[in-house]
Amino acid sequence: MRHRRPFVAGNWKMNPATVAEAVALARAIVLATAQARVVEIAIAPPAVALLAVRDAIAASDVTLAVQDVHEHEKGAYTGGISAAMLRGIVTYVIVGHSEVRRDRGDTDARVNAKLRRALDAGLRPILCVGEMLEVRHSGRADEFVRGQVRAALSDVAMGQASRVTIAYEPIWAIGTGVPAHGEDARTTIAAAREEVGVLFGAATAHAVRMLYGGSVTGESIAEFAEQPGIDGALVGGASLVSDEFARICAAVGVARTRA
Ligand code: 13P
Repeated sequence: MRHRRPFVAGNWKMNPATVAEAVALARAIVLATAQARVVEIAIAPPAVALLAVRDAIAASDVTLAVQDVHEHEKGAYTGGISAAMLRGIVTYVIVGHSEVRRDRGDTDARVNAKLRRALDAGLRPILCVGEMLEVRHSGRADEFVRGQVRAALSDVAMGQASRVTIAYEPIWAIGTGVPAHGEDARTTIAAAREEVGVLFGAATAHAVRMLYGGSVTGESIAEFAEQPGIDGALVGGASLVSDEFARICAAVGVARTRA
């Protein structure tokens, strides 16, 4: 079976303040991560900075991601950015981030539509799933995440599913400084992988990369990268500091090479 390449993606969210700062951060990340060759590295700057950042990283192995995409193909959707517009600019598209679900009302159905638009345009979705604290406390986290995976991957063609990366980001761990326990992340990610297997078969379940996200730092990454079945991380705050981000990438490379 094909080996899953370790993967670390930096979600910059609505940072930094200017396009010039985004270009500078991208350049710093390229320099700081130049050694981390076993790991695939992606950065997701704000949409307005994508073109400038694409040029800044063009000579490197760092790939580009966008933080969201519109669920429709084209038309009267003020502010929308379609998957087709992103073709040739980004490799990855983050869909279903909990902040977008919360702030822009993305439902499971809309996340599914966005994911399919991205696949149809030849882009690679990074699907975010994750439960609220009450759900974790009630013992239903794995079932909840399986439901999100099932909904988001509904009607995805068999041959396309392995191009999806799934990021398990428990909502209570995002931006709080309190990451999940490695063991819990491992079990929930195993449940998500099992669900992919139910939907698309064992080979696809094996091929899909699974990341952990939520308060990942150079310090906390080891707990996740060492877990079987966790292929890397989706990083928020720590991806805005090039050296810290590089530490995370290096740690994932070391842990996954050993695994
Ligand atoms: P933090 O790493 O800042 O907790 O954010 C995680 C995240 O939401 C990445 O998409």
